[in-house]
Amino acid sequence: MLSRKTLVAPSILASDFGLLGVEVERMTSAGADWIHCDVMDGHFVDNISFGPAIVEAVSRYTALPLDVHLMIDHPDRYLERFMPFAASISVHLEAAHDVSKTLATVREEGLLSGLAISPQTPIEKIKPFLGAFDILVIMTVNPGRGGQAFLPDMLPKMAQAAIWRSQGGYDFHIEVDGGINALTAHDSVQAGANILVAGTSVFRAPDAAIAIKQLREV
Ligand code: DX5
Ligand code: ZN
Repeated sequence: MLSRKTLVAPSILASDFGLLGVEVERMTSAGADWIHCDVMDGHFVDNISFGPAIVEAVSRYTALPLDVHLMIDHPDRYLERFMPFAASISVHLEAAHDVSKTLATVREEGLLSGLAISPQTPIEKIKPFLGAFDILVIMTVNPGRGGQAFLPDMLPKMAQAAIWRSQGGYDFHIEVDGGINALTAHDSVQAGANILVAGTSVFRAPDAAIAIKQLREV
């Protein structure tokens, strides 16, 4: 049974890439639970961020679980290059790949498998995959860049996923990603989320430890 305590996963997308190791150590010392790595391919989303070499580098600066979010097409082709360094890998329902096969491959490696859905994707689309993922990533911004405003219309998706989870006896985390701060985190946790991905609100905070603590205690 997965724990349901609120976890805070700073997204390195919002970090100073020129000081990435220092930033990862800063978040680790500030009390982060996971480190969220936003991988973008310039095809599935209109941005390119980083690849396996950076995730490997991050793994050398923290012992925290790395929560890899693949915003890429054909994620199945790249799993093997991320799996040695990741604790979880989330792939998008909307990307070009065999979703069930990809989720199963991640699990077979002993990692947590995540299914991510973009804002335009109705929550009903996840039903065929219930039981096949350990993390449901509900994007609360359009994937592709940090610093966007939280989309409150995503809250009912969290509530619906939590209902299906309890009705079906499933066991998965609900992770929210995008525009997460103390206010939007509160609403998200109330709606059923327990993993909070935060980039701007933590990396740009005057005191990251206070920002992380505030998120965890919403
Ligand atoms: C979007 C990214 C962002 C990022 C968090 O593709 O996934 O959601 O991690 O960005 P902030 O917290 O700055 O909105
Ligand atoms: Zn992300």
